[in-house]
Amino acid sequence: MNILILGSGGREHSLAWAVKQNPKCDRLIVAPGNAGIAQIAELADIDILDGDVVASFAEENAIDFVIVGPEAPLAAGVADTLRAAGLAVFGPSQKAAQLEASKAFTKAICDAANAPTAAYARFTDAAPARDYVTAQGAPIVIKADGLAAGKGVIVAMDMDTALAAIDDMFDGEYGDAGAEVVIEEFMEGEEASFFLLVDGETVLPIGTAQDHKRAFDGDKGPNTGGMGAYSPAPVLSDEIADKALNEIIKPTMAVMAAQGMPYQGVLYAGLMIKDGQPRLVEYNARFGDPECQVLMMRLGAQALDLMLACADGRLSEKTVNWADDHALTVVMAADGYPGSYEKGSVINGLDALPETSFEMCFHAGTKEVDGDITAIGGRVLNVTARGATLAEAHANAYAMVDQIEWPEGFNRTDIGWRAL
Ligand code: AMP
Ligand code: GLY
Repeated sequence: MNILILGSGGREHSLAWAVKQNPKCDRLIVAPGNAGIAQIAELADIDILDGDVVASFAEENAIDFVIVGPEAPLAAGVADTLRAAGLAVFGPSQKAAQLEASKAFTKAICDAANAPTAAYARFTDAAPARDYVTAQGAPIVIKADGLAAGKGVIVAMDMDTALAAIDDMFDGEYGDAGAEVVIEEFMEGEEASFFLLVDGETVLPIGTAQDHKRAFDGDKGPNTGGMGAYSPAPVLSDEIADKALNEIIKPTMAVMAAQGMPYQGVLYAGLMIKDGQPRLVEYNARFGDPECQVLMMRLGAQALDLMLACADGRLSEKTVNWADDHALTVVMAADGYPGSYEKGSVINGLDALPETSFEMCFHAGTKEVDGDITAIGGRVLNVTARGATLAEAHANAYAMVDQIEWPEGFNRTDIGWRAL
């Protein structure tokens, strides 16, 4: 079959890598893709936020299946347009993707499902929001309702930070995303991510992971999209994962279906775990990046069969065959990320890296220029390896990092430290 993947990050490189290993895949196109993806798939430079453009491209290229990587096309309703055009699509509808696109929406669904999550209140004006925070006290969490590229959440440890965050949001710092603000109870505990496929009805867990959001070693520095990840997440034991499934995920998916918005695609549940009890921090309507890279390493070719079954409503027939090992990925980013950074530096040493089902360097912000691989983004490479233990996966990944020559880039040296 002919398959189209939308996106250009390390997430999409790992999806392409897994899909390509499945004999069902005849032709693979990724739009817009990157320099690493170009080594295993055709690239297409189309506007992936425009459903009509993607639908005509898919028709012209006899595409049988579309996999939507990032949240922006989902929130823009691209999956709906493609389905209306008769295509098989992996990715939720615009309505169902509100689970990521609107924090207030998700809180209301959790209420209806009686799912454990932080206590909260919603505001459309600064004055009552300030009064609420003053009454609740710090620490407290201030969230812009809409999509803000991972920047719309302020975990305020003191009152001044909380009040300043409220003012910033209502002053338009986060654009339309901050027109409504959700204020949440601060939850203590350890965070982990739980990934599930949902076909509207059946919910199938496909793995757990933990990522490192802070830029620098010791989980210090500014928040980023993620500087590394590993799978499985030891903190999500089978028992806690079952609790999350039965108390949070299945009930919320049932409410979505009952309200006429059945969820179809991958569901990424961010959980806070304390004293053996999981609570929902957030839902995302897509794979995590870089969490996807470690999941794909462990799933391999079956990922395509699972995504196809998810799109066709056949998940109840499926089981997941886990590699009984660990995977770890180290993000290499351009100096300055997540702030401003230079583009165009050349990366050497990539050709000599192993490319096996145990070791892969996935590309994110790369572009080939005159035969060189150059950095054109903040997060640029995801050096990923498997191992019988997490320590082995860690050693294997960092051995590859050491072979990469890129003076203008940096990486954390302690990915996985909590679990190691
Ligand atoms: P979100 O975009 O909702 O995932 O929030 C980003 C990060 O903020 C999460 O990964 C948590 O580390 C933190 N966070 C969000 N909500 C809370 C909360 N209610 N309590 C504590 N930390 C939170
Ligand atoms: N790595 C966090 C995310 O993809 O949202």
